[in-house]
Amino acid sequence: MQTLETLQERIAAAFADSHFQQEPRKLYEPICYTLNLGGKRIRPLLVLLSCDLFGGDIEKAVYPAMGLEIFHNFTLLHDDIMDKALLRRGMATVHCKWNDNTAILSGDTMFVLAYEYVAKTDASLLPEVLFLFNDTARKVCEGQQYDMDFETLPDVSIDQYMMMIRLKTAVLIACSLKLGAVIAGADPLEANIIYDFGIELGLAFQLQDDYLDAFGDTKVFGKAIGGDILTNKKTYLYLKAFQSARGDDLIRLKRLYTTPGIPADEKTSQVIELYRKLGIDEFTRKEINQHHSRASFLFKELNIPDDRKKQLRTLARRMVGRKK
Ligand code: IPE
Ligand code: IPE
Ligand code: MG
Ligand code: MG
Ligand code: MG
Repeated sequence: MQTLETLQERIAAAFADSHFQQEPRKLYEPICYTLNLGGKRIRPLLVLLSCDLFGGDIEKAVYPAMGLEIFHNFTLLHDDIMDKALLRRGMATVHCKWNDNTAILSGDTMFVLAYEYVAKTDASLLPEVLFLFNDTARKVCEGQQYDMDFETLPDVSIDQYMMMIRLKTAVLIACSLKLGAVIAGADPLEANIIYDFGIELGLAFQLQDDYLDAFGDTKVFGKAIGGDILTNKKTYLYLKAFQSARGDDLIRLKRLYTTPGIPADEKTSQVIELYRKLGIDEFTRKEINQHHSRASFLFKELNIPDDRKKQLRTLARRMVGRKK
């Protein structure tokens, strides 16, 4: 068994060895900029961890793992245009540093690069791997569309929100784990259990992201606080606040979301203040813990000795309690 640190170093080395810079420079520079900023690189770590967990050779998983990370970074370039985000990983987003067209085209190129890397898989596994990746990539787009549709939809339920984050975020986490299992030649039943574990973990991960958007620290989180509030995202926090607010609180909340021209700082700080008053931070933590528990339950189902599961259990805990 390899440690989390060793696997993280393996991924860092693989990215350091890859040269994405080519001509035309304006196409590839934003790609290098994004990939060099790194981020947590959780998805490739999950691929390698899962491969190792099922007794596979992690070297066979390195390129496909990088492919998923490049795909994830591609979605961020486009997501930041869609969400009008100025800051990511503590730095200017690509569409701000360059422009929207650059972020679109460099993003498209990363999508192609992602396929190139994912396809560097044993030929015998390629049909299954590509089926999994295609299914995931399409679902992420579906989730992103629901995310945008919900911005202007007045009545979104918490069930609809869960469906949306399952698509935009959880399926890629689940895909990472299943990909590692497939490359290791795991029993298909076990590969599906780890996929389902990844879905629950991914739901908790996105809930935590929404939580940090209101209650995080920009310096650590690397993204602007209140971005979801300014774009009227139907996050768990928003939906729970509208569900629990009564009387003056409800009037205030409605006013904050419907009155045009409220300065951005004022809107975010007032909404966050109301969230705190309504105990939304606690509600969200409870929901996160529930999905983490469900994930842990599924994880126990895996027919693998407990001492081999330690690394992934630790990473899962970090993912749901993260501050960045
Ligand atoms: C951000 O993902 C987008 C979500 C799905 C919440 P990460 O939190 O994994 O971002 P990086 O890659 O570490 O920057
Ligand atoms: C991330 O959702 C989902 C995808 C990028 C596919 P968010 O919009 O919440 O992610 P951040 O907060 O910008 O990283
Ligand atoms: Mg988004
Ligand atoms: Mg976003
Ligand atoms: Mg977010």
